Amino acid sequence: MKILIGSNNEGKVEEYKTLLGSSFNPLPVSELGINLDVEETGSTYEENALIKLNFLKGKCNFPIITDDSGIEVEYLDGRPGIYSARYAGDKALDKDNIDKLLYELSGVKLRRAKFVCTIAYWNPRNISEPIICNGECNGEILEKRKGIFGFGYDPIFYIPILQRTFAELAKEEKNTLSHRYEAVKELLKRINI
Ligand code: IMP
Repeated sequence: MKILIGSNNEGKVEEYKTLLGSSFNPLPVSELGINLDVEETGSTYEENALIKLNFLKGKCNFPIITDDSGIEVEYLDGRPGIYSARYAGDKALDKDNIDKLLYELSGVKLRRAKFVCTIAYWNPRNISEPIICNGECNGEILEKRKGIFGFGYDPIFYIPILQRTFAELAKEEKNTLSHRYEAVKELLKRINI
């Protein structure tokens, strides 16, 4: 079954391809010629996921997934959170966001953090309220980057039990424990797949 992934982030779309499994054929918005140019003005992950979902409703006749995610750092009272993508400014690159976070945590001992993901799913064939699912993954922020895989904050997000960062994990491994995996697992259960 085709499913539209409401994201311009190639790293995320790739993850959904693996996470959703063979029942789905995930399509990035670019494949339908859609420019997902919406402002994420919500004050929660759920509100932002729904803003993206409402923008995409009516643009295809198959199911849609949108999500919003971020990294929450304990020492920073949960920041950058929903502002993770633009932490170092509106046009910030992953590299700029990591540099800013490492700077804010320089000399700080408390390095606990978690990734959070909220998914909104909607199927136009059985029109009802969107299904909302959440996932989290706990870890720590390293003092410098390690690893070459993934995207975003992956090179500084360390999983103590694995003794590796997300960027040192093959995508198959990241996809067995990530915040997005947890949210998709709940979704597949709720739509009986
Ligand atoms: P979103 O596309 O609005 O959900 O932005 C989320 C931001 O959080 C991304 O730009 C990344 O910086 C960060 N992020 C979310 N999930 C991950 C992940 O799995 N690895 C690394 N960074 C992530």
